Amino acid sequence: MSHKYVIAGPSSQALAVQVSKLLGMPAIETEFKKFPDGENYVRLKIEDEDSLAGSEVFIIQTTDFPQNDHLWELLYLISISRRLQCEKVHAIVPYLAYSRQDKVFRQGEAVSAELILTMIEHAGATSFSTIDIHAPSVLSILSIPSYNLDAMPALAQHLNDVELVNPAVISPDKGSRARSGQFAKLINAELVEFDKSRDTITGEISMDGDAKDADLQGRDVAIADDIIATGGTMSAAISLAKKGGARKLYALCTHPLLIKNACFRLFNAGVEDVIGTNTVSSQVSKVSVAPLIADHVVNL
Ligand code: R5P
Repeated sequence: MSHKYVIAGPSSQALAVQVSKLLGMPAIETEFKKFPDGENYVRLKIEDEDSLAGSEVFIIQTTDFPQNDHLWELLYLISISRRLQCEKVHAIVPYLAYSRQDKVFRQGEAVSAELILTMIEHAGATSFSTIDIHAPSVLSILSIPSYNLDAMPALAQHLNDVELVNPAVISPDKGSRARSGQFAKLINAELVEFDKSRDTITGEISMDGDAKDADLQGRDVAIADDIIATGGTMSAAISLAKKGGARKLYALCTHPLLIKNACFRLFNAGVEDVIGTNTVSSQVSKVSVAPLIADHVVNL
């Protein structure tokens, strides 16, 4: 195999260039647009179609809003790489859209996460990597090698620079128990469990937690989740923790989707800081996953 390249997908340009610089690997730029009828267009900015034959490429393209555009661009980039006879085509998708639809919640639904992954494989990816996917079990639909990278140590590192008073980590729901437990170990804190439920029709969140028993009085609290979308989960956990007497609250997540007024909601609920990674670009993307991806690429 002759050469290795990072392909900087339209949605992850800064991250891809950071990764390429860490690896000393050339980054290929893309040209992209939407046609007047809404269809997507993407091309690799290369002069010679034969130049990639036999190479190994690492396509970095996240699939945040507008998800469907970013997904189509990703599929095109994989397909182009195969057509140009790249020997290995690694799809690195820091945030995977539709990952929360990992099962049927209501009769008659599609299991969107499985469908998206299947499309990525069928487009010609020879491996698939993502970061803190909502339900890692969904990756078993793939027959190509798949990897779920862990951004929690990098987020914990950020918090380690803050002096926390008698810290506790709150797990907002059952699904986040394992992740929160791991995060608690990383920052040397006690794990406290809350119990969120979400109405599958209205999306409305309710949360219980015995904050008194948990004894959060005067303690600093961190809540680490995979995604902050509307901020509903986090702000409910923040309010409950405040009621329990928590001192400073930190909200951390891998994928800060921050839909509409999510940031306002969190700060208004009394959070001290919101810390996310740059799997998705946002006003709280303070932790870069470039070193995590670069280390992974070296081992692929
Ligand atoms: C769901 O279980 C996820 O882990 C997150 O807690 C959820 O996606 C966050 O969404 P929102 O910010 O809209 O509550």
